[in-house]
Amino acid sequence: MKRIILVIGAKGMLGRDLMGILPSSFPNDEILGWDIEEIDIQEEDTLFKIEKLRPDIVINIAAHTNVDGCESDEEKAFAINAEGAKHAALAALKCQAKMVYLSTDYVFDGNKREPYLETDPPHPLNVYGRSKLRGEQYVQELLKDALIIRTQWLYGKYGKNFVTSILRQASEKRTLSIVNDQTGSPTYTIDLAKAIVVLIQYGTRGIFHVANSDLCTWYIFGQAILKLSGMDKVRVVPISSKELGLPAIRPSYSVLNCQKLKKETGLTLRPWSEALKDYLATYRPTRGKPGDREGK
Ligand SMILES: NC(=O)c1ccc[n+]([C@@H]2O[C@H](COP(=O)([O-])OP(=O)(O)OC[C@H]3O[C@@H](n4cnc5c(N)ncnc54)[C@H](OP(=O)(O)O)[C@@H]3O)[C@@H](O)[C@H]2O)c1
Repeated sequence: MKRIILVIGAKGMLGRDLMGILPSSFPNDEILGWDIEEIDIQEEDTLFKIEKLRPDIVINIAAHTNVDGCESDEEKAFAINAEGAKHAALAALKCQAKMVYLSTDYVFDGNKREPYLETDPPHPLNVYGRSKLRGEQYVQELLKDALIIRTQWLYGKYGKNFVTSILRQASEKRTLSIVNDQTGSPTYTIDLAKAIVVLIQYGTRGIFHVANSDLCTWYIFGQAILKLSGMDKVRVVPISSKELGLPAIRPSYSVLNCQKLKKETGLTLRPWSEALKDYLATYRPTRGKPGDREGK
């Protein structure tokens, strides 16, 4: 029987890539993509709108993803990332739909210094991480078979992100200062979108960590971006997070252990450096929707 798969946050960076592959991945199902124009998950009428559609799967990737912006507007961060997640989860409960919720490495504080397991206790350092963790908790409290996917350091074709920011700055400046005391795994939205499909196809539930393999700092990632783009004449200076002075504290180490994904589906995402090569091979500037942010 034909199912209805609803993506909320369909016009964001990950959303567009996911919308690109869902039809061929689930050819017998109907795929619908909603974003802020169709539904505002902060509002309680989210429930009725989703209930009316009666989807079989709800993939909620809508979020307030401006990490520093969340520090100055905690209310908005929680309204979207936590209460919004709750509204979508309540609707999924009402429709008996499968819920997929996207979360973040920023639920961790970075003190472990080893790749984080799904079972490690979360301890977010910033408002964004706390609001996403509350979203996770609502989803888990309401839905026993929900799938929660934590990912990190996303970049993709649709939307501003670290890669687009480095390339833009490199075209304007001769020296770039990049943070060298945060370690993670840059993740290409195309690879993540494919993993989301696989996790749904395998009928998985619970928390899964999904990121490209291997780790680096933002500084190493920045150097790789410049080298692969033939811009390695630009000088790169390593700096500390303190020197950069952004409002939100980030974990110094938030690498995700993705062994559970491998164990349950056989999937391992390729190394971030390979994914980056692919991304840069097709990179065209200014393809996001107007008003896109700088990513995380
Ligand atoms: N980006 C990362 O590095 C990263 C890392 C870890 C986890 N994640 C998670 O992965 C998911 C996708 O991230 P992304 O980078 O693709 O995000 P994104 O580009 O910011 O996309 C999110 C989409 O949700 C929409 N949205 C915002 N508030 C909404 C609301 N109240 N109701 C309905 N839609 C709303 C946004 O619209 P506007 O653009 O108009 O606000 C945007 O189109 C998010 O859940 C995020 O928390 C992201």
